[in-house]
Amino acid sequence: KRIAVFASGSGSNFQSIVDENQVAYEVVLLVCDQPKAKVIERGNKADIPTCVFQPKSYVKKEVFEKEIIQQLFAYQVDFIVLAGYMRLIGPTILSAYEGKIVNIHPSLLPAFPGKDAIGQALDKNVKVTGVTVHFVDEGMDTGPIIAQEPIYVHQEDSRVTLQQKIHEIEHHLYPKVIQDLCLSSEKESV
Ligand code: GRF
Repeated sequence: KRIAVFASGSGSNFQSIVDENQVAYEVVLLVCDQPKAKVIERGNKADIPTCVFQPKSYVKKEVFEKEIIQQLFAYQVDFIVLAGYMRLIGPTILSAYEGKIVNIHPSLLPAFPGKDAIGQALDKNVKVTGVTVHFVDEGMDTGPIIAQEPIYVHQEDSRVTLQQKIHEIEHHLYPKVIQDLCLSSEKESV
């Protein structure tokens, strides 16, 4: 299956998805809404075509999403993988890729949706948090859950250590879930 990764930041998840042994999927496109993001460098190094856009220069979301769709179709993308993409997917892309968009979120959803899930978990002093991979719908981190992994929060944990633990889990969980998703959709289409 051909996948596009959408990212806005450092792109460590993008990297792990690219680096993982890719039997069932191939990353064919990177979509980024932040022209200075580190993920763009990673995309260049990995020789992956990259579509960078600046949302501010469009009058509305529908217009840039239509442009993205054109790219997705041109690269024959089957699945969209959000990896630190800091923007809600609008109806234009959602309707074209219904049930084919996944996201990773650094909490055990439905706890702590939205921005800074790690900070929210630390503020609430939870003893367990984790990582969730879910399908994307029109809400913020609300779609059906595909996989979750818990992480214990210890008293000595800081934002930095918790972030590291979350990344470690994400980097092995996300490629695996994407792989499984692609494999099961191959079976469906036989
Ligand atoms: C990850 O922790 C992910 O759960 C969240 O954004 C972060 C992206 O990190 N949605 P990176 O850019 O992949 O390093």
